Amino acid sequence: MGPLFGAVVARALDEWWEGLGRPDPYIVVEAGAGTGTLARDVLAAAPECGPALRYVLVERSGALRERQAARLPLELPSLVLGPAGAGDEDGEAAHGSGQLATSLAGFPGQRFTGVVLANELLDNLPFVLVERRGHAWSEVRVGWGVGGAEEVLVPAAPDLATEAERLAPAAPEGGRVPLQHEAARWLRGAVSALERGRLVVVDYADASASLAARPWLDWVRTYRGHSRGGHPLDDPGGQDVTCEVAVDQLAHSRVPDCDGSQAAFLAAHGIEELAAAARAGWQAGAAKGDLAALRHKSRIGEAAALLDPAGLGGFRVLEWVIGSL
Ligand SMILES: C[S@@+](CC[C@H](N)C(=O)[O-])C[C@H]1O[C@@H](n2cnc3c(N)ncnc32)[C@H](O)[C@@H]1O
Repeated sequence: MGPLFGAVVARALDEWWEGLGRPDPYIVVEAGAGTGTLARDVLAAAPECGPALRYVLVERSGALRERQAARLPLELPSLVLGPAGAGDEDGEAAHGSGQLATSLAGFPGQRFTGVVLANELLDNLPFVLVERRGHAWSEVRVGWGVGGAEEVLVPAAPDLATEAERLAPAAPEGGRVPLQHEAARWLRGAVSALERGRLVVVDYADASASLAARPWLDWVRTYRGHSRGGHPLDDPGGQDVTCEVAVDQLAHSRVPDCDGSQAAFLAAHGIEELAAAARAGWQAGAAKGDLAALRHKSRIGEAAALLDPAGLGGFRVLEWVIGSL
């Protein structure tokens, strides 16, 4: 996708900054930031909160953190967060010194006021898979057989069976449910990292009972490069295994304050205004067909793709408000 999503996120960051009373520093942690595409697009949109903005890309993969450095100017963590936030020693971040970005392998060392943003992170976290067998539940484990990785079903431990029964009491025979303990743990950690602010999760999502009624290979999907991969047990380590996020399981830790589609989120934060400007720009420049006109044209297509309810627009955006705004 092009930079439109980041431009809308930049507007949302401005609204939340205002709502928080314009804190300075305003710390925005993007968790699971990957190669830094979203960060680059948000910063390129030059949000109004810029002078106070400290953008922190949190990415556990060292190889991806290196690629971020090639995409956007990154400063030392101690400059952006102050020595204490960078986990070094006591000391505060400087105020109002311009939009600054840094990259870390984990959350900042101190609680902060601002935003935690996670785009397609939670679907990437490990989960336990259980399957309905008569009145009981089995855990689906992975073994290594002559043909490579294969499923091994074992009776689920009592706590897992109880949890599955609570989440999906009407699961059909053979129905599967992911138990997303890591996602719930991540949520609790992100909530406790925020002194005041907002936690925003964008992902594919459903509810446990609904997942149990769907074929499991619909919601455990694999990706390789930018395309769909093969069966989850194929080529271990060679493809990304993802799982739709069960919102009810997150809500068990903390009920979200907002839960809507990506299309609704983008509409609430002004995508239509940006798309209208792009349409006007394309109309004015189409005859010339120069680079600026073509940028407008591609932004029009991007808006349609981002809002498509059967595609990206159908992603869910969950928001938790932390502390008083
Ligand atoms: C599916 S990618 C999404 C990347 C990016 N947010 C995007 O939308 O393009 C998930 C990213 O989260 C990272 N990741 C997974 N677990 C993580 C964790 N516990 N903390 C930080 N990053 C993590 C992965 O290395 C990967 O880069």
